[in-house]
Amino acid sequence: MQTCLVTGGAGFIGSNLVDALIRDGNEVIVIDDFSTGHYKTNKATYSWWDSKFPEKIDVVFHLAALARIQPSFYQPQKTYDVNSTLTMKALDIAMSHGARLVYAGSSSVYHDPFANPYSYTKWLGEQHCLLYSKLYKLPCAIARFFNVYGPRQIEEGEFSTVIGIFEKQYRENKPLTVTGDGEQRRDFTHVKDIVRGLIAMSKSDWHGDIFNLGTGTNYSINEVADLFQTEKQYLPKRPGEAQDTLADISYTKEKLAWEPTISLRDYVNEVVMKKKIVDVSLGTKQVKVWEVSKEWLEGKTDGAKAVLLEVVFASDFVLACKGAQERHPEKNLRISDGNHAVECEANSGPVEVDALRKAIYG
Ligand SMILES: NC(=O)c1ccc[n+]([C@@H]2O[C@H](COP(=O)([O-])OP(=O)(O)OC[C@H]3O[C@@H](n4cnc5c(N)ncnc54)[C@H](O)[C@@H]3O)[C@@H](O)[C@H]2O)c1
Repeated sequence: MQTCLVTGGAGFIGSNLVDALIRDGNEVIVIDDFSTGHYKTNKATYSWWDSKFPEKIDVVFHLAALARIQPSFYQPQKTYDVNSTLTMKALDIAMSHGARLVYAGSSSVYHDPFANPYSYTKWLGEQHCLLYSKLYKLPCAIARFFNVYGPRQIEEGEFSTVIGIFEKQYRENKPLTVTGDGEQRRDFTHVKDIVRGLIAMSKSDWHGDIFNLGTGTNYSINEVADLFQTEKQYLPKRPGEAQDTLADISYTKEKLAWEPTISLRDYVNEVVMKKKIVDVSLGTKQVKVWEVSKEWLEGKTDGAKAVLLEVVFASDFVLACKGAQERHPEKNLRISDGNHAVECEANSGPVEVDALRKAIYG
């Protein structure tokens, strides 16, 4: 068990990190002003920058920041205070409590650090880490994130992320708003992969090493919007943003044995599928249908497949199908029970599958 301090632990990435650290049996202290982050758990302790901390802290994860480019334009001083000055504060806390520090940096430093106050102050934060590492021998490592997405991402307002905005618009049946011509490309990384990377970085004494946490693949914003298979609406280009981002993760792979495991394509496909969940009544039972195959929709019997989620309802469905199997052995109705999903395949002459199809599509 380690004692970990997470600044920005109520935010999108920080809260996912807090959950993972707690799951791994660590003691977690959070510093957050709840300005953009709102997550709280009773398994962590909430503190403030000048609080009295335990004498020994093992790792400080410094994620607190005003974390987006656009709002930084009209509040350069505040962005500096939070992103730069508080990074020094986090380094001081790490020094005085014998901790290693992991800094949440940004890929924006690969472009022009002077393009906007956000990139500039994130770059300054890195310089502070390097200073403490070189001068005071503080073990610290810099993570550079690209575009992060996943659970608890901010979906609206000036601190929202592109995937968050698209998911909300998609759920609300609105066109997806693309800025500029949509040909700018971004490297998108799932927050679970980021959290694994941060934890891997915290395991050794690094001395200012920089780890890109990206995927090494990028998508244009048009390509991302197209994954949702819905309408797009174009908005004016935003200032201060890079044309393309793409992570070189060779150093991270070599030193941390870390690799991203989740693809944006799979993630968006799941978002699209989730919207298609339909409640169906099967006799007296309510069943949630998650996915149906093309064959199933077309009323074919060969290869037809319906995947159902929610174990409670799904097990009822299995029972219903089993009954049908016994009553109609000649129909060769195959049922398999997965971990959290149940598949009902009708190879020839579906029985309940037909009832389901009728219930959904009339
Ligand atoms: N999300 C991304 O795609 C991305 C990309 C590159 C870098 N980053 C970096 O990752 C870190 C986390 O970003 P995020 O996307 O989770 O943003 P976020 O806004 O969800 O999290 C930032 C957290 O910092 C807190 N905070 C702000 N000012 C504070 C202060 N004065 N004291 C204490 N807490 C304060 C906020 O309330 C919030 O909980 C940031 O340092 C950001 O610069 C994020």
